[in-house]
Formats: sequence, C-alpha cells, structure tokens
Amino acid sequence: MTRVRKAVLPVAGLGTRILPAAKTTPKNLLNVFDRPLLSHVVAEGRAAGIEHFIFIVGRGQGGIEDYFDRGYELEAELAAKGKTEILEAVRADLPRPGEMSFVRQMSPLGLGHAVWCARDLIGDEPFAVMLPDMLMDATPAALAQAVEAHDAVGGNIVVVEPAPPGEAHKYGIVSLGGVAEGFGGRLAAMTGMVEKPPPGTEPSNLFISGRYILQPRIFEALAAHERGAGGEIQLTDAMLRLLKSQEFHALRYEGATYDCGDPVGLLRANVAYAMKHPTLAGAAREAVTRLLSGDGLAGH
Ligand code: G1P
Repeated sequence: MTRVRKAVLPVAGLGTRILPAAKTTPKNLLNVFDRPLLSHVVAEGRAAGIEHFIFIVGRGQGGIEDYFDRGYELEAELAAKGKTEILEAVRADLPRPGEMSFVRQMSPLGLGHAVWCARDLIGDEPFAVMLPDMLMDATPAALAQAVEAHDAVGGNIVVVEPAPPGEAHKYGIVSLGGVAEGFGGRLAAMTGMVEKPPPGTEPSNLFISGRYILQPRIFEALAAHERGAGGEIQLTDAMLRLLKSQEFHALRYEGATYDCGDPVGLLRANVAYAMKHPTLAGAAREAVTRLLSGDGLAGH
C-alpha cells in the first residue's frame, strides 16, 4: 500500500458566511482559542503522517504563507526579552524546509478546480484532501482514522458523518452499500454521492465532512472541468465519475466536527478548545460559566 504523504488544503474560498471577519484575515487564520484554525488542522495532518502540505491559496491570502514563515523581528524581540515560552509557541508551527507549498488558484471555480491545481505537485500517488474550515477534534486524529482505513482497504476514502436534521442539502451526500470488516461497522462501500441535493431528495443523511484520501486518477476526472452544483467544478462530481472504475469507502469517523466557516460553528470550536486547553481550561470554564449565568455581563 502506497503511504499517504501529501495533503492538499484548499484555502482560497472567500469565506462569505463569516464576512466581514474574513475580509482582511483569511478565514482559515481566524482564531480558535489560542491559535489560528490552520494551526490545529496542520497538527492533525502531521498526526496522520503527512509530510508535505500543499495550500491552494487565493488573492489576499499572503498571511497564510507568512504565518508558516520565520518572523525574524518578532522572534528577535521575544528572544531579547527572554520570553522563551512565547517564542517556542510562535515557532511551533513552522514547517521543516520544503514541507509546504503554496499554489495560487487564480479564479474561484470551485473545490474540484482547487484540488486540480495541485496535480503537478501530487504526481502519481494517493493523497489527502483536508477542508480546513471543518475542524475535527478526534483521537486518533480524523485524518489518521482515514489513513488507517486506506491502509486496510486501499482505494479512495471519504470521511462522513450524519448531517444535522434539515441540513443535508447544504453538503455532499453519500449512498452506501456493504459494510467493510473491522472499524466497528463504520466503514462501508460507497455506491453513489451527490453534491448539494435539493431538500427532500437526499439519498442518506451522511455528509462528506472534509477529509478525503484520493487516488491520483481523480485528476483525470477533474480535468474535464465540468460545472456542477452552484455552477462550480465540484470534487464530488469528479469522485462520482471515478466511482465507475475505482472503489470508494465512506468512513464514519469518531470525533467532533466544528464548521468554522460560520460564526456559531467558530464560537463552538473556541469554547470546546478552551475547555481542553492544558493550562487555561480552568480559567476559560469559569469565564464561560459566569457569562452564561449573566454574572460576567454585570459590569458591562
Ligand atoms: C464542500 C464539499 C461538500 C462537503 C462540504 C463540507 O462544500 O463540496 O461535499 O460536504 O465542503 O464542508 P462547500 O462547503 O465548499 O460548499
């Protein structure tokens, strides 16, 4: 089984659901308690054995490249002031030389087009796709669970989970066939998928939640540049084409997902990550409890 070494992170979206917060700060650099969303997602990728991260960026997102680069002045200042712990935190996300690539998606033509932009950097090996606005809190890491499934059955793996009632039409939805052995009945062969089905026509309530392991043949399917839901080149449509000749399995992963492209989802993520922070959890819990009891608002 070829190891999954590379991950594509499409980050070029405008973040329309979370404007104006995402106007000058790329959506994926918005804060989740003590660090940017992307920091959490890259940590998940590293925990799954990813060695090379390929960001598909749009205009005005130079901040992402800068975040993963040395900040000489800042680091020198922190070092001069002896702020060692903060300096270490600032450096913690830095890649090893050559571990990250940035590809410009020049037109916002859809998720499928964004992934296709990575074709030359991926070459001829299976790879992961991580949609970073979907923050997945899991042990083992969500992508590591997908890699484990890929090691077991090969082919293509799509991580799914049940959509909240009435929300399936907002996502890519899968249909399932036989359940695979192991994985507690959570891994099943896929028989179909549809991107944003009209309400009432969804084939199931299981939505594609943002982590994939794909075979490089997906690039042939994406090269057709066919437009789908919303007039965009959809990854789901290309996967459906590939399903005619390759196996796809859906994995219901074990963990919690936060849709950080939406203000309430981002708030949920902030509270959840605050509650499990190694040193600040106690203070965070107290602050949230006081706010919810109305106490924290008293002096406002
Ligand atoms: C994309 C995918 C969709 C998936 C969703 C998860 O849609 O096309 O299949 O369910 O991400 O967030 P988007 O959110 O870009 O509309």
